[in-house]
Amino acid sequence: MALLDEPAVELENVHLSLGRGPARVHVLNGISLSVARGETVGLVGPSGSGKSTLLMVMAGLEQPDAGSVKIDGARLDGLGEDALARFRGAKIGIVFQSFHLIPTMTALENVAIPLELSGVADASPRAMRELEAVGLKDRRAHYPAQLSGGEQQRVALARALAPNPSILVADEPTGNLDESTGEKIIELMFALKRDRGATLILVTHDLTLSARCDREVRLRSGRIEAPANVLWPKLRA
Ligand SMILES: Nc1ncnc2c1ncn2[C@@H]1O[C@H](COP(=O)(O)OP(=O)(O)OP(=O)(O)O)[C@@H](O)[C@H]1O
Ligand SMILES: [Mg+2]
Repeated sequence: MALLDEPAVELENVHLSLGRGPARVHVLNGISLSVARGETVGLVGPSGSGKSTLLMVMAGLEQPDAGSVKIDGARLDGLGEDALARFRGAKIGIVFQSFHLIPTMTALENVAIPLELSGVADASPRAMRELEAVGLKDRRAHYPAQLSGGEQQRVALARALAPNPSILVADEPTGNLDESTGEKIIELMFALKRDRGATLILVTHDLTLSARCDREVRLRSGRIEAPANVLWPKLRA
């Protein structure tokens, strides 16, 4: 049973290697990190430092070789494959840089089908409300190819938030958008997160954006560096 005062995310000494033979890389080198409920964390660091991999571990999509991952107080490694998939579907919303919408489904179906698969009875009206929340009600019958990049990312955001996850993880959600569209997506994401009291973990290369988060976590070579906002006061643009 998850207790209310448990952190949203708690990692303890997480190690992970990926790849085989000479391509094997020790990607995460003993990551310990605790994220409070409702906190917004900006995950920054050079390319290849392990940011995306760390998000995948937090989202239960990669299993660490050693160490533990707890979400809302529940250890992920104790769950079987099916239970893990259900837990993930209910608790964690994921937004990727490149949207990952299903091209043969309309905007509405992209949001509704995953809900339906997770056993939600009123999937379609709920998906409709989520599309409305991101301002896309009148684009519900459009296929991804008929939507702009910003609109596709809003559908992806609606899909991620539809199950009312307690944790939203976003991997460079504005990386494929122009600056002003990206800014709108970020505003929307922060507003929706705030309305629902969710925890947000955001990978970004944009230092203005990470400075807007409650906390910045900096990765280098699979390790967490001393928090930037403790050593150097945040520079706000
Ligand atoms: N399946 C894999 N097999 C081998 N190495 C991998 C695999 N996936 C990732 N890596 C390596 O792990 C390191 C971290 O990758 P990751 O994608 O987490 O970096 P990142 O910080 O998200 O970088 P970027 O900012 O470029 O997106 C990289 O050096 C990458 O080459
Ligand atoms: Mg990445």
